[in-house]
Amino acid sequence: MKKIQVGIIGFGTVGSGLAEVLYSQQERIMKRTGIDISLTKVADTSLTVLPDHFSDVTLVQDAKEIINDPDIDIVAELIGGIEPAKTFVMEAIKAGKHVVTANKALLSQEGHDIFSAAAEHGVEIGFEASVGGGIPVIKSLREGLVANRILSIMGIMNGTANYILTRMTDEGVPFDVVLKDAQEKGFAEADPTYDVEGIDTAHKLAILMCMAYGMNITHNEIATEGISQIEPLDIELAREFGCRIKLLAISRNHGEHVEARVHPTMVPENHLLASINGAYNAIHFTGDTVGNVLLYGLGAGKVPTGSAVAADVVDIARNINSGSVGRVPPLAYMPDQIQDRRITPMNELFGPYYFRFTVRDEPGVLAAISGILGQHNISIESVVQKIREQNSAVPLVMLTHTAKESSVAAALEEIKALDAVVAPIVKIRLLEEEQE
Ligand code: HSE
Repeated sequence: MKKIQVGIIGFGTVGSGLAEVLYSQQERIMKRTGIDISLTKVADTSLTVLPDHFSDVTLVQDAKEIINDPDIDIVAELIGGIEPAKTFVMEAIKAGKHVVTANKALLSQEGHDIFSAAAEHGVEIGFEASVGGGIPVIKSLREGLVANRILSIMGIMNGTANYILTRMTDEGVPFDVVLKDAQEKGFAEADPTYDVEGIDTAHKLAILMCMAYGMNITHNEIATEGISQIEPLDIELAREFGCRIKLLAISRNHGEHVEARVHPTMVPENHLLASINGAYNAIHFTGDTVGNVLLYGLGAGKVPTGSAVAADVVDIARNINSGSVGRVPPLAYMPDQIQDRRITPMNELFGPYYFRFTVRDEPGVLAAISGILGQHNISIESVVQKIREQNSAVPLVMLTHTAKESSVAAALEEIKALDAVVAPIVKIRLLEEEQE
């Protein structure tokens, strides 16, 4: 039986998850593939010993002992971050190793160099776990949807942010309180910036857009807003309007240009994405032949993510075994077909909005605000003013019909300057109805 040897660089959550999955599923994988896929070496600078059931696996400190090991076929880079991960990946490629990684920050920023090097050296790059944790989203997009022009990508792609928003919604407590508790329970990182500010979601959207549209894009080109400014009051008001607030990645393919954005979004309760709760992820594609597809599952976690990395390992092992390495281009398009596309500037986008103004409750304020909105061609769909407490400011909440982002920005600048507006204006985009 053909034997394929795997080396793991980085034995943290995902690295140890891959090891556990390869160990616990070894026999099943053998039955399914006819290949003996074995973990033979782990490199980790902070470990002195591996768990007992890995007694056949060699633990080393230096990643080069994996990269330069002639018996290792597949290197799993699972340390995360840009460096030294990029150096390890590039060195492994140059040494003729196939590489699997879960590193969305690396791929969404340095993917061009990595995919070019892999093509030059005739090796495969697997990155299923970089988007949606255990959900087989990459393989679905690359292979299952190959006969489609992808019209849109929309999803909840960060479990930490979704967990925090879900608890804020269910318990009515502020962001900071939930975040602290989530950190204590291990649901959020000590530094949660990437997760809560939408950056991790932008990394994932960039990877999906490259594959969906056959284009180059880095995460820096994606307009990104996070959830740290969301208040329980807005969640409560959203509920009164029949919506949930979710951190969404949204991309639409307009042919000449493509939308790319990550921001908190009010999602109607009857939309499938409104019911994705806790640490779960869901990714929705619309294809011109298939229609709508929704993939749902755990977007993080040691073993679910290990399952996705193991799927890459198995794919590569099968390709090695059948002499078909490079059968499927990693970014789903032939490299010479990947093109630059214009990203739609945010100020050109149209959609409905939620505004919450904090105003002094006195005559003429509503008229002044609605007058400014009208001058900017922004039509109000509904208005709610919450209860009046003696001498205190009140929340004045509006939903608009579809408006242009640049007009909204200009109108809010003017409204902000009114004497009666006494606190920063909250603006949340509503999910637009899909145009068929
Ligand atoms: N930090 C990510 C999340 C998981 O919270 O969803 C890894 O992509």
